[in-house]
Amino acid sequence: MSNPNQPEIEARKGIDFGLDENLPKYWHSNDPFKTRLHDALQSTFPEGERYFISSVRAFRDRITDPKLQHEVKEFTMQEAQHGIAHTVFNDLLEKQGMPMKRLLAEHKNKTKEDERRWSPEYNLAITAAAEHFTALLADTYFSNKETTAGMHPKMRALFAWHAIEEMEHRSVAFDVMKDVAKVGYWTRAKAMVRATWIISYFMFHFADEMLKADGFSKWQRRKMFVKNIPWMYGPRKGILSSFTPNLLRYFKPNFHPEDIPVVHNYGQWVDVYDKTGNPHDACDAMIAAAY
Ligand SMILES: [Fe+2]
Ligand SMILES: [Fe+2]
Repeated sequence: MSNPNQPEIEARKGIDFGLDENLPKYWHSNDPFKTRLHDALQSTFPEGERYFISSVRAFRDRITDPKLQHEVKEFTMQEAQHGIAHTVFNDLLEKQGMPMKRLLAEHKNKTKEDERRWSPEYNLAITAAAEHFTALLADTYFSNKETTAGMHPKMRALFAWHAIEEMEHRSVAFDVMKDVAKVGYWTRAKAMVRATWIISYFMFHFADEMLKADGFSKWQRRKMFVKNIPWMYGPRKGILSSFTPNLLRYFKPNFHPEDIPVVHNYGQWVDVYDKTGNPHDACDAMIAAAY
């Protein structure tokens, strides 16, 4: 059953996170590995979001439900704004000496190849699967105080805004996939396996390339990876393992994204943002209300 508390989708435009050269290079816990893993993940967002928008828009003319038509419009606006904000940060990474042009070209070639190679239905199914990942960000990162404790406040605010909006539009690609493109269970499940692989591959591969560009040797990079295994995969609080239970719910045949409750401190972010227009204050309020 759908969640009656699912919030409306609201595209908030032109938010400035104040990201500039003053941001510490290793903004997450002063830790190269933790920072570069997040840098790598977020670096794929602009191209990923272009791919998501285009996968959904391929079915736009077949959508007859006015509510879903409206949601697709808002989804498109939100994703476009996310792309702009993360491009600002990717430009900063380039200035830091990260090989962003090369890495982003590699990612773009991969998504373009997928668009050529797979049917519109399968590309949409990969999009819906990836959207399930991003929808889980709010819960994984912001339901508790601990996960984001070492993050620079400006980066934390960027991730909080993105996580909030991902939760708001979490059903759009899924509903278009199921109700309009009529994608069946096995294609949806197969697409989730593929999306998991693609996201993981680019995150670790790009983090490694960035650490290499920082001057760390292969041996040093391996040591960093091993040292951070509990942070990533610790059984209860690992940042990646804490995704797993909700991620696996996607494989239930009658799954719908709104079956998962909205993160409990969603309202705090929205209330403060609506009053102040300040994403940093909104993020602080969300974290103050976290467990
Ligand atoms: Fe997004
Ligand atoms: Fe999204």
